[in-house]
Amino acid sequence: MSRGPENIVILTGAGVSAESGLGTFRDSGGLWAKFDPMKLATPEAFAEDPERVLEFYNARRANLIDAKANAAHFALAELEQAWLMAGRGDFGLVTQNIDDLHEQAGSASLLHMHGELLKTRCTACGHLFTDRGVIQREAACPKCGQTRTLRPHVVWFGEMPLGLDQIYKALEQVDLFIAIGTSGTVYPAASFVLEAKRAGAWTVELSLEPGEISEVFDETMYGPATEVVPDWAGRKLG
Ligand code: APR
Repeated sequence: MSRGPENIVILTGAGVSAESGLGTFRDSGGLWAKFDPMKLATPEAFAEDPERVLEFYNARRANLIDAKANAAHFALAELEQAWLMAGRGDFGLVTQNIDDLHEQAGSASLLHMHGELLKTRCTACGHLFTDRGVIQREAACPKCGQTRTLRPHVVWFGEMPLGLDQIYKALEQVDLFIAIGTSGTVYPAASFVLEAKRAGAWTVELSLEPGEISEVFDETMYGPATEVVPDWAGRKLG
């Protein structure tokens, strides 16, 4: 009996980029252990002290410029290509990460639900553009010319994540949901596994250690993403 299509949705978090040298948020030594997210990653913080928020994101952007995709990113890009080439079903990669490492590895069906650090947006006219440089508070928007309007295209706490309609639509049809390198502490991303289970999907957690919602998953594998992800993806394609 031929196997029907198997639609895959993958959700990644900071753990997939940890071995590329980019910090996670809630591990020991994580970003939120050093900085207060309420002072740096909210619209109120930006309104109160835009220079401080821009300095924080400019530093993270500078740190990202030299970062390289790792074996986990490449394994996911290869899985996507093989899955789609073989017509085995749909494939969607939703990332909470604002880095460009999935793109570097060749992932195409990619949705950045928390925005992208290498993009800058004008709060006056909405102009969105790739920007690998420093966001200057006094710089003029390249499109509308207004100043003091530029911000990182990153979703802050209290703001609506991007692409939720598309994500929930994919989760309605998903057969296999894999959460990789995420602590399962931030919503709505942490609830995607429940949507997947409602759709009857098999759910997998690949991370360094169990997160907040690990008991919900049908299958779990723990270890560094650069080992666990290629291993799991290889067996899936086998
Ligand atoms: N390999 C695999 N997993 C790892 C590795 C690694 N080398 N290192 C850490 N991890 C796992 C941790 O065990 C943890 O479960 O990655 C997860 C990182 O969790 P968080 O730091 O909470 O990051 P994340 O889940 O992506 O945070 C979600 O919170 O602050 C917001 O917008 C921010 O997108 C972020 C969201």
